Amino acid sequence: METKNPAGRAPCDLQLFGVMPSYDELVLRLRAAGCVYAEDEARLLIEDGRDLEELVARRVEGEPLEQVLGWVNFDGIRVLLRPGVFVPRQRTVFLARQAGTRLPGTGVAVDLCCGSGAIAAWLEDRAPRATVYATDIDPVAVACALDNLRGTVVAGDLFDGLPSELRGQVDVLVANTPYVPSDRVGFLPPEARDHEPLHTLDGGPDGLALLRRISAEETGWLRPGGHLLIEISEPQRDGAAAAFVAGGLEPSFVQADDGTVVAIGQRPGGLPPPP
Ligand SMILES: C[S@@+](CC[C@H](N)C(=O)[O-])C[C@H]1O[C@@H](n2cnc3c(N)ncnc32)[C@H](O)[C@@H]1O
Repeated sequence: METKNPAGRAPCDLQLFGVMPSYDELVLRLRAAGCVYAEDEARLLIEDGRDLEELVARRVEGEPLEQVLGWVNFDGIRVLLRPGVFVPRQRTVFLARQAGTRLPGTGVAVDLCCGSGAIAAWLEDRAPRATVYATDIDPVAVACALDNLRGTVVAGDLFDGLPSELRGQVDVLVANTPYVPSDRVGFLPPEARDHEPLHTLDGGPDGLALLRRISAEETGWLRPGGHLLIEISEPQRDGAAAAFVAGGLEPSFVQADDGTVVAIGQRPGGLPPPP
């Protein structure tokens, strides 16, 4: 579909009139700024339809492409973003899929630390009869998740904002917590380091501060047999397993082809959920 700019002109018309840089010029500028996928980025920026010069300037200055565009493609779902909200990573699709396979068709899921709500949006899309809640401590993230979700979005520190009726009813608790160890945050790529708030990245001394809190505070929310799923990095396996065991959960792990690890804790007991 052809994208029009606010003046009603297609980008290619404006390029012909010399008002906007050509596709080739744009690719060169983006490549010089270090954009690895310069061709794809140029196409997306041209298709956006807003002031191309302004969009390119923001991108060349290092703002993440997804923030410049205002959306990210998350496994086929267009997730809207707001400034200051964590950009969902493509590797987190694996976490969403793992959560989806453990969510009964009419089950209940909670996306803790939801950010833009990408994982919850994925679950709403793939399990349309399920009930999906999302929560985050950051009011900007909550507003962004409301842009993306049909279900309930609440603000609060971990479980604080969730309705108490959910206790014992949750089939799947999924969380992409901040899990970068504090002393590694400075080594992140500038797009993350300079453009994403610290509270979205910093996971404490070993990156597992929130995973430990969730494991300890989860008691009473998951139904017997329900699952907690949290994305971690490879060296965090032992710490995650210990935290799950301390919280009364049976730990296991799954790993994606790209190396992404998801720690899974199952609440013992219960009957298998209905299909
Ligand atoms: C790594 S981002 C992940 C966002 C989203 N789940 C995703 O995958 O794109 C972590 C999120 O955790 C939120 N967060 C940090 N501390 C929190 C807390 N104590 N309670 C709830 N959310 C928290 C941050 O605001 C941020 O949105």
